[in-house]
Amino acid sequence: MTRVRQALLATTFVCSLSGCGRAGADSMSAAEARMEARGLEVYEEQHCGTCHTLKRAGTAGVFGPDHDGIGTRAEARIHDPNYRGKAKTAADYIRESVRDPAAYRVPGYEHTHFTMPAFTNISDEDLNALVFMLSRERD
Ligand code: HEC
Repeated sequence: MTRVRQALLATTFVCSLSGCGRAGADSMSAAEARMEARGLEVYEEQHCGTCHTLKRAGTAGVFGPDHDGIGTRAEARIHDPNYRGKAKTAADYIRESVRDPAAYRVPGYEHTHFTMPAFTNISDEDLNALVFMLSRERD
């Protein structure tokens, strides 16, 4: 077999796994689908749903804001004139909310006893998956 043919076959194989060329707005690559699934697992492992509602995760927590549509809301939060955090994107805002929730208290929660604990123990890889999954939550 020629080298070119080998390379072509290898590409075809990798694409059949990751779905190259099919990843449009509504279809996820296999790698993204794995990341999404892992994100949901981390959400469960860390018990985020004790305080948050996320229909997809089957949770109904009421101590914190809803996570249904959080990707859309995160976008709005960073444009709030009272926002003092460092995030420039919705994904960064979600990441910051997990690692350093005190950077910005969601309006309505500033003066309550319900504060979010900082999750500093989640690995970067797991946090990436969690942020990926939540960022895709759109209204
Ligand atoms: C003990 C309850 C509690 C737990 C557990 C908890 N949170 Fe929160 N979370 C809150 C509260 C209360 C707020 C709102 C106050 C604030 O901004 O800190 C919040 C805010 C947030 C926000 C910002 C929401 C918005 O509308 O802007 C995100 C994102 C978030 N949490 C993600 C998570 C994730 C992911 C986990 C799991 C790793 C988690 N939370 C676990 C209580 C909790």
